[in-house]
Amino acid sequence: MYDFKPDAALDREELYRELIAAADALTAGEPDGVANMANVAALLWEFLPDLNWAGFYRVAPAKAGGAEELVLGPFVGRPACIRIPFGKGVCGVAAESRATQLVVDVHAFPGHIACDAASQSELVVPVLGDDGAVIAVIDLDSPSPARFTEADAKGIESLAHLLADRI
Ligand code: SME
Repeated sequence: MYDFKPDAALDREELYRELIAAADALTAGEPDGVANMANVAALLWEFLPDLNWAGFYRVAPAKAGGAEELVLGPFVGRPACIRIPFGKGVCGVAAESRATQLVVDVHAFPGHIACDAASQSELVVPVLGDDGAVIAVIDLDSPSPARFTEADAKGIESLAHLLADRI
């Protein structure tokens, strides 16, 4: 059994230090990317309060061939849309721009894809490989408006960096 429950009194920076240390411990030496994404999705859910979805979309070939798109990966939350083209929705914009998207109000984001009507704010961070190409995105949704801050963005970007060669 793994027990990585964080101390509720931790400040945001300390919380992310512990989350990343736990993710490092769980994924080090494990070559299976799906297993690693599954455990990290569970950790995100355990560590971060006020979420309604936490998980991954992976870059994979489109069903019809041709361009790559985002395909649903391991997550915790309600069932979600399976395929997202680059440039569409918050996840697709993060993948296309290779830049973090911190969205305080999803209803104000043009093209936001509502997988769960409860979502009010969202943070999407691209995971970039050594060559700078996007491998996946980490997606966090919250039922609260403006749930995510720059501290969350920095913390999840550090996590994405750790996971770049583990997923
Ligand atoms: N809201 C996302 C879609 C994925 S779900 O939130 C899990 C988007 O606009 O890309």
